[in-house]
Amino acid sequence: MANVTFSSQLHKDKTVYAVAGSHKQTILELAKANHIPIDFSCGDGECGTCLVKVKPVDKKLGHMGGPLNDREVKVLKELGKITKAQIEQMAIDDLPPTEWRLACQMVVRDEDILVEYPSK
Ligand code: FES
Repeated sequence: MANVTFSSQLHKDKTVYAVAGSHKQTILELAKANHIPIDFSCGDGECGTCLVKVKPVDKKLGHMGGPLNDREVKVLKELGKITKAQIEQMAIDDLPPTEWRLACQMVVRDEDILVEYPSK
């Protein structure tokens, strides 16, 4: 089980338990299932509407989650949230090089994370 805490300036923080190991459930799916109002549009890693910041609960652990997928890389690059150097770094150490993620693309893993999302 992973604890995922959703945090925004306009809503009370909410921590939910995610079933880890499914390798399928995304942050956005988890948010929807728990009535957490993360903005989204395409749901398919193309528009960037679901941009969130993901941080480890235990700060010593560094960036969390698996590496960015190709769609995340493309959109985050377009949004100016990731540099070419960071993309190259990810290829070397297989870790996400930035806190910025797309909620519809990032799959929940067995780790406790804080997800900061913007709110309307
Ligand atoms: S909802 Fe469009 S990129 Fe996630």
